[in-house]
Amino acid sequence: MFTSDSQSSSSFPWYVQFGGALLALGVFLGMQAEEGTAPAAVSSPTAVQTAGLSVNLADEGEQIYNTRCMSCHQMGGRGVPGSFPPLRDTDWVNGDKGRLIRMLLHGISGQIEVKGQTYSGVMPPWGGALEDEGIAAVSTYIRSNFGNDASAITAEEVAKVRAATKGRKKPWTAEELKKKANQGIPGDSTATED
Ligand code: HEC
Repeated sequence: MFTSDSQSSSSFPWYVQFGGALLALGVFLGMQAEEGTAPAAVSSPTAVQTAGLSVNLADEGEQIYNTRCMSCHQMGGRGVPGSFPPLRDTDWVNGDKGRLIRMLLHGISGQIEVKGQTYSGVMPPWGGALEDEGIAAVSTYIRSNFGNDASAITAEEVAKVRAATKGRKKPWTAEELKKKANQGIPGDSTATED
């Protein structure tokens, strides 16, 4: 008769058991949720991705140079005397950004003086083959290699120049590019300094 006391103390009442089951379920669900959020957590280190991107941009610049420029301008930007001007220590490379972007977007032909030598060839336009980012990557690459140490060029700067010169159909001449009107980044007053 009075064993019911000892009976109820030996086995847990229903709500404790139920609660325990709920707790277990909660832990299980919690683990699931944690697993579920894991892939999202991987995408959160945008800093890593951004750092990776800037590394990739430098890689991209080198790759573009090797595949699209080196055949003429040679390894290390040495050029070919009399035919293809060098890309080391030239004002066209290290000087005004807007002028370099224009030249790469639309090409250049006619006489151009580079480091005291006159060349008279044709460089094809790259604006069709390369996106803003590609033009930015390769121009930044040539400005920071071959002994050059000029500032980077961004895709935004290329986009601004591309938009401002979109009516341009033929290659520039050096003469045209010496004019202030064909230099600088539109809307950016600091970019015209040489
Ligand atoms: C088909 C050959 C050829 C290719 C490929 C070529 N260029 Fe040129 N580049 C020239 C020639 C030729 C000139 C000089 C144009 C002239 O005589 O009017 C020149 C001029 C230049 C100049 C200005 C002069 C200087 O030496 O500083 C730069 C900068 C330049 N090229 C960069 C590039 C970059 C960057 C690429 C790759 C995206 C490239 N070129 C691909 C032939 C080429």
